[in-house]
Amino acid sequence: MSAVVIVGAQWGDEGKGKIVDFYTERADWVIRYGGGPNAGHTLVVGDEKIVVRLLPSGILREGTRCVLGQGMVIDPNVLIAEIDDLKKRGRNGIEERLLISDRAHLILPYHITVDCLREAKAAAENAIGTTKKGIGPTYEDKARRTGIRTGDLRDPKRLRERIALALEAWAPVIQALGGTVPDLDSIVEPLLRQSERIVPLLSSVSLLVDNALRDGAHVLFEGAQGTLLDIDHGTYPFVTSSSAVSGGAAIGAGVGPNRIRNIIGITKAYSTRVGAGPFPTELDDAYGMHLREVGAEFGSVTGRPRRTGWLDLPALRYAARVDGFDGLAVTKLDVLTGIEKLKVCVGYDTPSGRTEEFPIDDIEVPGRVVPVYRDMNGWKESLASARRLEALPSAARVYLDFIAEKSGIPLYLVSVGPKRDETVILHNPLL
Ligand code: GDP
Ligand code: IMO
Ligand code: MG
Repeated sequence: MSAVVIVGAQWGDEGKGKIVDFYTERADWVIRYGGGPNAGHTLVVGDEKIVVRLLPSGILREGTRCVLGQGMVIDPNVLIAEIDDLKKRGRNGIEERLLISDRAHLILPYHITVDCLREAKAAAENAIGTTKKGIGPTYEDKARRTGIRTGDLRDPKRLRERIALALEAWAPVIQALGGTVPDLDSIVEPLLRQSERIVPLLSSVSLLVDNALRDGAHVLFEGAQGTLLDIDHGTYPFVTSSSAVSGGAAIGAGVGPNRIRNIIGITKAYSTRVGAGPFPTELDDAYGMHLREVGAEFGSVTGRPRRTGWLDLPALRYAARVDGFDGLAVTKLDVLTGIEKLKVCVGYDTPSGRTEEFPIDDIEVPGRVVPVYRDMNGWKESLASARRLEALPSAARVYLDFIAEKSGIPLYLVSVGPKRDETVILHNPLL
């Protein structure tokens, strides 16, 4: 039996899609445990590029069961469009391999309305820069106990009653934001049509995954977003509304934490962030442009240019601690090619002195903490054809060794391009 969690160590977009797709060659099951269509996970297979939003990144592997766990928030429109898009691309057996937890929450039109109105109305310094997919309001409904779960689709009468209750709770909010409260039928009727596609996929995920683990299956838990966007451990309030950290896998898939055998953290060889919030190593110069352009750093969901900066090792050590990484996957190392002198953040100057710990509670206040950098040599050679560490230029190997040493976590994998085979594999916990 192996149960492996793959989780982003930064502010999302670390390359989870590529790495999950890579490791699922050996996985029987892949389970997305949190978030919703705010995620955009890119899979590049041959000449084809697919961005999955709700579907697990194992969906292109025909032998892998794919599961949407109960920690997720699911927009039925996005789900159905995603399934149909894959079918149009000639991918077969998608629904046969797909299971959806009957306890996951539904994103409904009023959640999206509230998310958009709030972002539009917020003063510039308070806007989160959300993906406007209704994520926050849907998790609010879950916590307020007025959420609609996928399982409610099985009972149209109850579904209608639950939506009426939620609409009643949201109406004053929508009105105060200057929006129009939708009519109950306009929500329920399309949903009933969609439920014909969704209900057959519903299942008790916790039980199925438990049985699979008892049968010795290889199970991979796919994180969305990243540790620094986690509702508890991220740069609050500039975070998403779910448990993105590895611990979210136990809750969001319904397995005991002791079933998880291995946790892989993914970090880019530099940093990016989409949306607002603190980003101490952010670059606003030619280096930042290099990272954005060579790394094609534009949001996979919203197309927004991603903010870019140097690698932050205290932040990586922080993620290693709160996630409990066993191994590291470093992605996009190729993007650093051609930068003569690299910088890596190794510590912070804070009002209470210099520290190697990530000052998560201080970084919110502009100017309160100042990153301390170490210069490192860059390299000029293309990395795209490297398949072994020894094939990398020595400066790139020094860079990787430094990341492993400072984070205290061994390297499992290095990614040198978006394609499946552009990968240096050092350890596969699914073998
Ligand atoms: P995710 O949300 O963590 O799955 O990451 P995204 O898919 O949003 O963004 C990662 C982007 O980097 C995608 O466009 C990937 O195709 C691309 N990518 C992944 N690994 C590498 C790599 O090693 N090198 C390069 N150049 N691109 C990569
Ligand atoms: P993947 O899984 C990068 C960011 C948004 C915003 C904040 C809150 O592809 O790594 P939300 O819509 O969740 O309420 O927005 O979180 N965000 C992401 N940034 N990658 C993601 O997903 C993200 N999902 C949310 O930009 O700052
Ligand atoms: Mg992404």
